[in-house]
Amino acid sequence: MSFSNKLNASTTGSKRPISLVLQTLHKWLGLILGLQLFIWIVTGLTFNLIDEPFLDANQYRTAEKASSISTALAPTASLLQIYQAEGIIELKLTSVLGRAVYTLTTTQQTRWVWADSLEPLSLTNAEILTLAKESYSGPGELSTPQILNRETPFDASGPVVMLTASDEVGTRIYIDTASGTVLAHQNRQSDLKDLLFMLHFMDYSPDNGISFNHLLVQLVSIGALFLGLSGIYILGHKFHQGQLSLPFLRRKTAIGKLALYTQDAQPLAEFTDLNGTYLESINQGQERLRTQCGGGGRCGLCKLRFVEKPPAPNDYDLDKLTATELTQGIRLSCQHEASPSKLALVTKAQHRYWPQSEH
Ligand code: FES
Repeated sequence: MSFSNKLNASTTGSKRPISLVLQTLHKWLGLILGLQLFIWIVTGLTFNLIDEPFLDANQYRTAEKASSISTALAPTASLLQIYQAEGIIELKLTSVLGRAVYTLTTTQQTRWVWADSLEPLSLTNAEILTLAKESYSGPGELSTPQILNRETPFDASGPVVMLTASDEVGTRIYIDTASGTVLAHQNRQSDLKDLLFMLHFMDYSPDNGISFNHLLVQLVSIGALFLGLSGIYILGHKFHQGQLSLPFLRRKTAIGKLALYTQDAQPLAEFTDLNGTYLESINQGQERLRTQCGGGGRCGLCKLRFVEKPPAPNDYDLDKLTATELTQGIRLSCQHEASPSKLALVTKAQHRYWPQSEH
């Protein structure tokens, strides 16, 4: 784009150059993804540093014992007949507290019935407590069962009850009342493990389960792709505009004189060691022109007027300077490589800030 076209673009509205919009997006994406990266590192390191048994939810859980069934079993024909219409998949014989149980799975649901009476399985609080005690080998006393009214992460078919143990890790035992199955043991240490997993896998939605392909992971992946692509574009664009300020890429300008004037066209200073940008050459050894962004093209405080032959404005000039300033030859001195030339201050504030000893 030619200078006049660029100037027209900057005067036709408040549109920012695309490269600056991309840079802003790039920075925010970098911040957000960088934060998640930091969380990955910290949680991954924590998993490595903490002994696995410390995070174990099952330190007081006993292995299930097979119990012998002594009661007579009721014939299954009537049971199968009742649910035949649902499409029977499987009928299994199991046991709860030594009493035989039929587990009938149809295409619609799974049901548990006592195998001696074909009555639906139901458990008293005392039986639930016994089940919990059978699964627990710790030193604590178990509380009475408490029905949970909230959602749980367990695959339960009926209401879930919780019993807590008065041990040093605060063991909690969860039981499915529909099947008499001990669903899980948890404790304060396994809660820490769950928290670390949640942070590590970005699993911030409780019903998500641990999955590598949930929406947030997809969004972060797309964001990371965009971060990389925008970074490549910005790098290429900066190369193209000569804005890269890597020390080994910066060429020292030819020896010559940079003459600086006040805004009233009075001689102010001369510089012969022209190294880097105009701003860097002027501020060598001492800050003479005030900046807030340190040469990043963001504050606009370093603007100077080229008395003759102003360079073509770059994106930062177009973003920070008005069309009038651009046509007057004003540019951001932090954005252009210094060469022998004549420049003038633009504002009285710049003149006031100039070191008194150099007036
Ligand atoms: S130093 Fe801030 S814009 Fe140049």
